[in-house]
Amino acid sequence: MYEQVSHTLLNEILNRIKPEISEQDLRHFYTRLGANFYAIHSLFERLYGDRDDFAEQAQQLVETMAENYIKRPEKLRQLDLARENDYNWFLSQKWVGMALYCEGFAGNLQGLQERLPYFQELGVNLVHVMPIMRCPEGSSDGGYAVSDFRDINPELGTLEDVVALAEAMKQRDILLVLDVVVNHTSNMHYWATRARSGDKKYQDYFYTFETRNIPDMFEQSMPEIFPETAPGNFTWDEEMGRWVMTVFNDYQWDLNYSNPAVFIEMLGIILFWANQGADILRLDAVAFLWKKIGSTCQNEREAHLILQLLKDCCQVTAPGVVFIAEAIVAPVEMIKYFGEDAVIAKECEIAYNATFMALLWDAVATKNARLLNQGIKSLPVKLERATWLNYIRCHDDIGLGFDDRDILLCDYEPARHRKFLVDYFTGKFDNSHARGLPFGQNAKTGDTRISGSLASLVGLECALEREDNAAIADAIKVILLLHGVIMAFGGIPLLYYGDAIGTLNDDSYREDPVKQEDTRWVHRPSIDWDIADRRNTPGTVEYEIFSALKRMIAVRKEIEVFADFNNRELIEVKNPHLFVFGRYHLQKPNEQVLVVANFSKHPQHLNLEDLGSWVARYRPLVDLYRGKSPDIFNNSLVIPGYEFYWLSEG
Ligand code: GLC
Ligand code: GLC
Repeated sequence: MYEQVSHTLLNEILNRIKPEISEQDLRHFYTRLGANFYAIHSLFERLYGDRDDFAEQAQQLVETMAENYIKRPEKLRQLDLARENDYNWFLSQKWVGMALYCEGFAGNLQGLQERLPYFQELGVNLVHVMPIMRCPEGSSDGGYAVSDFRDINPELGTLEDVVALAEAMKQRDILLVLDVVVNHTSNMHYWATRARSGDKKYQDYFYTFETRNIPDMFEQSMPEIFPETAPGNFTWDEEMGRWVMTVFNDYQWDLNYSNPAVFIEMLGIILFWANQGADILRLDAVAFLWKKIGSTCQNEREAHLILQLLKDCCQVTAPGVVFIAEAIVAPVEMIKYFGEDAVIAKECEIAYNATFMALLWDAVATKNARLLNQGIKSLPVKLERATWLNYIRCHDDIGLGFDDRDILLCDYEPARHRKFLVDYFTGKFDNSHARGLPFGQNAKTGDTRISGSLASLVGLECALEREDNAAIADAIKVILLLHGVIMAFGGIPLLYYGDAIGTLNDDSYREDPVKQEDTRWVHRPSIDWDIADRRNTPGTVEYEIFSALKRMIAVRKEIEVFADFNNRELIEVKNPHLFVFGRYHLQKPNEQVLVVANFSKHPQHLNLEDLGSWVARYRPLVDLYRGKSPDIFNNSLVIPGYEFYWLSEG
């Protein structure tokens, strides 16, 4: 039997294991290793089984897990046990996240620690601190070109600062999310330096080629990620005298996961950060982990096997830690990053809901929810015990990655509709007050993405300049509307730093030679804390947004049906301006909340008949967010322009 092969291998590994490991009391470790080893062995074998050194590599793999378990602080081991017991912990509605750049938010890690009360004031209890690992000065893609995976950027602080931050956050019940940039390293990483100096071992950590033969074959089917600033997927390295695969920027070298040594190194790094106190790890650019000639080199089957293997191994050493998949890909592909099967093939517990994000922006531009409804209808149901990160803005651009078929079903022509969206958000369209910038324009495919801060994209910047109070009020309403939807949808809402106080575009990147070509920097601001302090002064824009979000977050945390157990039903209604869905309780049928969002500037009505069994006719409805009943006129619910309701029966 196949299981027996894996048992035998495990016995052999344990017999040979280093004395430093075998001498320790590793009871929980061995229990988990035994439980996961069949899956680990099968996956490792499928990926690397044809290598002569397979047994040695398997030994290394187990020792990496064991060594990191030994180093795992006792407090974190206790947390692992607690989370194993309360295994749905991350599905709860009580989590509300924020993503931020440490430098832009608070200067450095110590500054960030001092700002923890800000999160508590707002109600945020999950903080994604974007990459803080050591990067070369200059070309670092905002921290995503790492030159040392086990050290911190000196401007931000030290490893001790991270550990102190993690502890301070734990005391306040705030989860820490850190990035592990698994797909590539900086060209200044030690591995790249060794490869450059001719060391074959490290050349094998990357994809390097003497001639253009293979690169040219790859190029035939690989798209370009940064077509303007980094065209092509290979870079000539003069010193090494070889081509190297660089899918993102030319200074980001793609790691070669067909080499098990790379897998084991990266697993060690993941476990290292788990041991520094990260609760959640964001695995960057996971769609790109496997490269195959003749394919787009995204979403390959092996990329999924690698993630499954990472998950199984992490479950042995640090089971309390969950993964976020950053895979900004088509909906049918995106869904696969949760895994294929919750029992035998789990991958990442959390994934970015990029489709939902893009659909929300479509609704903002068109002022109707047609494509949003259609797109959500086509979004496959995800695995149980997996959840979305629902977001409006993040540090990256907005890609209009919805499905062409959905666009057609809404009677739009895909290319023209996308052009309309780009024109709308870059302010070229009549009546648009958006101040976005194009990103990643690709002359060959016609593709364009969009940069810009939330506030500037919804017209706040323009309205403030014109001192147009009505337009300011509308922009604020749209900001709140979008948050009202992501807070209720199911999943972890992830706010973006600055958005809770209406931070506008920041043009200062244009003066910086290493940033000026990359418009994403327009929405990676440095928080001006004098402005942020206005959040407590009624009458200011900052107050209007911040106080409303604070309330929204507090209310969300009390609404049990907002926890994510795939307990949502999309409700198609006749009025195209409305996005309507219901959230229900799997065990308590009487508990339900109806979410109604109006993307039009004008008041809209919703015929109560459209809602079927979602509203009992004679019971009053209460909007939980505002704590009062909505207006009803002629058997229709009235929803003011750009507003939303979280309705429950009173
Ligand atoms: C991720 C990051 C993005 C970065 C890219 C390459 O997608 O979110 O900012 O440019 O990876 O590392
Ligand atoms: C693409 C990639 C994503 C990356 C982004 C950067 O969408 O899929 O990983 O973050 O480009 O703009």
